[in-house]
Amino acid sequence: DASDIEKGTYPYYMLKEIDEQPLVIRRLIEKYRNEQGELAIDEDIVQAVNEADRLYIVACGTSYHAGLVGKQLIENWAKIPVEVHIASEFSYNMPLLSEKPLFIYISQSGETADSRAVLVRTKELGYKSLTITNVPGSTLSREADYTLLLHAGPEIAVASTKAYTAQIAVLAMLAAVAAKAKGIALDVDVTKELGIVANAMETLCDAKHEMEQIAREYLATTRNCFFIGRAVDYYVVLEGALKLKEISYIQAEGFAGGELKHGTIALIENGTPVIALATQEHVNLSIRGNVKEVVARGANPCIISMKGLDMEDDRFVIPAVHPMLTPLASVVPLQLIAYYAALHRGCDVDKPRNLAKSVTVE
Ligand code: AGP
Repeated sequence: DASDIEKGTYPYYMLKEIDEQPLVIRRLIEKYRNEQGELAIDEDIVQAVNEADRLYIVACGTSYHAGLVGKQLIENWAKIPVEVHIASEFSYNMPLLSEKPLFIYISQSGETADSRAVLVRTKELGYKSLTITNVPGSTLSREADYTLLLHAGPEIAVASTKAYTAQIAVLAMLAAVAAKAKGIALDVDVTKELGIVANAMETLCDAKHEMEQIAREYLATTRNCFFIGRAVDYYVVLEGALKLKEISYIQAEGFAGGELKHGTIALIENGTPVIALATQEHVNLSIRGNVKEVVARGANPCIISMKGLDMEDDRFVIPAVHPMLTPLASVVPLQLIAYYAALHRGCDVDKPRNLAKSVTVE
């Protein structure tokens, strides 16, 4: 049928969409660039961002995880405080709002009911909103004051991959443009660094064989799996765990490395897979300390580090990218590991049980 033709030679949309990520990043660099080749975003949007005293990112699932990375980018580069909220929680447990908030709704589909409910509410309260979405003309796009598009092309697989990296790339560009408009001099050329990221993603997409091996070795028969990371790696392991659980049905959890000893470490048994990310210099030794703690309890560790921070026992090393942009690269092996784990376990990768591509009920 038509969908098979679109899939081309790929067995599943998810794998195709993972592979499209370098192209999507390069496309975004083109889309958000002016004639002088500088990063450019609609001035009204940049003004709305810079006039706000606080940004409230509201989203669900993978889009929420992208929002967490966005917080880090916006706070570091544009120096605007950011809160990130799960839409379904925000609705019933609204935080105390600042005087001049701007709401940012992140949604691949633009149709997620939980996010829309919050948008309707914040509009009633008279607050401005920006939707970051992959679907032009979607409900969240139409109902918000402003829209930034992800230009990722249709995402068919239920498990979101290229939308996540596109969301982070757009948030990075927004952070950089907002910083520039405020007169903050960044010591980073974001366009150039995103180009380096796209190349790194390509290398990572070529590492399918290694990821298949990891999935086979660690996840073929396990009933659970832990992911750990610190700083921005923590946000990425939350996404890695979500990917794994939604398509392979392995119980997976992402944890902040330092938090394990406060309870979760009790779950570590002989052979429990623990996948650790190590892409941040300032926490490189401490995350490795956390790996030692779980290994001492019998865990089977799989450290994925970044070139320059790698150490002897690392299972896989990703190419070096700018430290603020590592999630764009480090998520790719986690997506592939989830994909192969699901494949090996005979799951329907694109259409996992109990899930719909967009959740249009609250
Ligand atoms: C991602 O793999 C999930 N299927 C899910 O968490 C998704 O990201 C969430 O439902 C939000 O969807 P949206 O981005 O279309 O709003």
